Amino acid sequence: MKYLIVSFLALTVACTASLEKYSLVEGLKDPMEVAIARDGQLYVVEREGRVLRINPQTGGIFELGNLHVQCVNASDPKSKYGREDGLLGIALDPNFSHNQRIFLYYSTRESSANRLSRFTLKAGRIDFSSEVKLLEIPTERENFASHQAGSVEFGPNELLYLSTGDNTNPFASDGHAPIDNRDDRTNWDAQRSAGNTNDLRGKILRIRPTESGYEIPAGNLFKPGTAKTRPEIFVMGCRNPFRLSLNPRTSTLYWGEVGPDARKDTAKGPMGYDEVNQAKSAGNYGWPFVIANNKPFPIRDFSDNSIGAITKLTAPQNLGQRNTGLKTLPPAHSAFIWYPYSDSKEFPNMGKGGRNAMAGPICYHKPNRRYNIIDQNGDTALLTYDWMRGKIFKANLDGDERLKDLEVLKEGLTHPIDLEMDRDGSLILLEYGSGWYLNTNGSISRLIPSGENKPPSIAIKPLAEARKFCVEKVTDPENKQVTVQWYATSGVSEQKLGSGTTISLPPGKFTDVRAVATDDMGAKAFARIDLKGLNKKGNLALAIIKPQKAYGFGETVSFKISSSTPADPTKTRIRARYIPATGHDSDGVELPAAIDQIARANQCLACHQVETSSVGPSYLDVSIKYRSRKNTVGYLKKKLKSGGAGVWGEVPMPPQAALNDADADKIISAIIGLSKGISEKTGTLQGKIQLSSDVSSEPGGAWELTAESDGYSPAIIRIPAR
Ligand code: HEC
Repeated sequence: MKYLIVSFLALTVACTASLEKYSLVEGLKDPMEVAIARDGQLYVVEREGRVLRINPQTGGIFELGNLHVQCVNASDPKSKYGREDGLLGIALDPNFSHNQRIFLYYSTRESSANRLSRFTLKAGRIDFSSEVKLLEIPTERENFASHQAGSVEFGPNELLYLSTGDNTNPFASDGHAPIDNRDDRTNWDAQRSAGNTNDLRGKILRIRPTESGYEIPAGNLFKPGTAKTRPEIFVMGCRNPFRLSLNPRTSTLYWGEVGPDARKDTAKGPMGYDEVNQAKSAGNYGWPFVIANNKPFPIRDFSDNSIGAITKLTAPQNLGQRNTGLKTLPPAHSAFIWYPYSDSKEFPNMGKGGRNAMAGPICYHKPNRRYNIIDQNGDTALLTYDWMRGKIFKANLDGDERLKDLEVLKEGLTHPIDLEMDRDGSLILLEYGSGWYLNTNGSISRLIPSGENKPPSIAIKPLAEARKFCVEKVTDPENKQVTVQWYATSGVSEQKLGSGTTISLPPGKFTDVRAVATDDMGAKAFARIDLKGLNKKGNLALAIIKPQKAYGFGETVSFKISSSTPADPTKTRIRARYIPATGHDSDGVELPAAIDQIARANQCLACHQVETSSVGPSYLDVSIKYRSRKNTVGYLKKKLKSGGAGVWGEVPMPPQAALNDADADKIISAIIGLSKGISEKTGTLQGKIQLSSDVSSEPGGAWELTAESDGYSPAIIRIPAR
């Protein structure tokens, strides 16, 4: 029996874990796209407008500029307006190392448009006065007219490719084709955008940037000067072509296409499919008339829901009243890979469930490269991935880039949103974070084939003395010798501080301190401490006076809080919390899953965290404040309805109008219940705190005591419970 289990596990691992993931940086906010410079530096854009440079050698994060873009943000987390707008894409000029030029695609605030611009970096930051506007694509932002795509890439031919979405409301067409021709349904009609040869939306555009703008290269879909067409179009008929990629040897274009929602074939059309597409030359890929392997949608009349003729694949007709382009479109191309919500008949390894297809790099075997995803010289593969499924797939191709077979290469990723190949053959992976918006857990990691030397791991912590840090733990999986080098960030540069197990920050202003552990094969791991808001005054220490072996429920503990510079007692507090023996709650208090869902659905978590204050107070603080008061639920319900400021600070909470009464009751009682088992004492550095007696868990756990004071890093200790 034992053997069976072991070999089963080994089999699972062999199938799925053929890439290992190692973190480079964490804590990014909705990162969208990454570009790798020749010198290995990573340039990343975040949805809300930050442009970052990441140094993968040191884990450094440098903010190069913050664009003022239209987007959903914390002050308007429920905006129904331009929900997929923001800073969407980045590419580096092919001569970036000489000219420091970057291309950004972003949603403008001063007009309703998405813009492709070139900026030049000056002393490592974006010089906003250097902006050269290349393309401005008018976009509609009302009625959930979504799908902006926004991938920007240079091909090996130094041509710039930009993907744009159909800018159409995905609802109210039963998950089939949004071809609503009624007068007042502009935002529900993709015939005006993706199916329109005279509109830049729902396309992949291809241009050659010049000093002052761009030129049209030969070989785009329509010859310049053709009436009712735009010469920038390389591919038309796209819905939301999210990430694109170019074969470095052949310039063949690949992209992922996010498809519509229908779960079944009906009289109104085929079910929805996501697609991975391949274009060796310019073409029409069908949307909103054709999907998947050329499955046509019938022409539907939304005024009476009658179903008309089937689209002709060789010459699809766009009869939409808002079509300003050609009526007869170029022939429709089949997708390269297509898959629905349910199991795919054609591509069973794609799995099932939510979908959001993306195209990643094309890999060749190169014997002199450090890492090779491909084992054999001569083989080729396209890596594709899916944002929803959290997986990377490897599509093995033959010499003519035809699909041979398809396998899962990696699972368990948190919304992978970009995947690029570094020059050593490793992959740079961008993960967007767990939610749709307002994430703070976006990350960048490096993926290398399993079986290679693994990097070490390292943790660091501040010492009691101000501005001093030490290595808490450093290990190497292969027990290799590891050296530790320290860095600190100041503006857009970093300073090397020295090596060893402890470090003192030199005088000056720094935003973080980092330790880089390197093993003797050059593999690296990073640890960082953010200095913003941390530790200006030093660290607190917490001591128990005359400690007992263990403490029971309701007993008191004598404590003393100290620090190198004395803390202000009125700004100091100590909390004691019971942690059951099962360790189940050891990560801290949390909302029950069902309540967490309500909080997420209502975007409460954009401003509130359970244990830490952010825009609003932490829910634990709210609980401790109100748990012994009368009519708390009534008061808080009213406050949620009407919003307001003044209890926790000057920032107001907006009225939570969309929260219904039943959910309000549930979430408020859950919030109040959070502090069960937690006691608190404020305003003193020395004294007694009574341990809670309102927990019914079995004894045998521990009490966790946390001392906090404004401007200090907290002290946390655990003592046995009885
Ligand atoms: C846009 C930011 C924002 C959002 C979204 C938000 N809050 Fe708040 N919330 C705040 C701020 C700021 C305060 C502090 C108000 C004050 O000082 O009176 C607050 C206070 C509270 C309080 C304490 C009220 C008091 O008077 O002490 C509760 C409870 C609360 N929020 C729950 C929620 C819930 C539940 C949601 C989601 C339905 C939510 N909040 C959404 C910002 C927000």
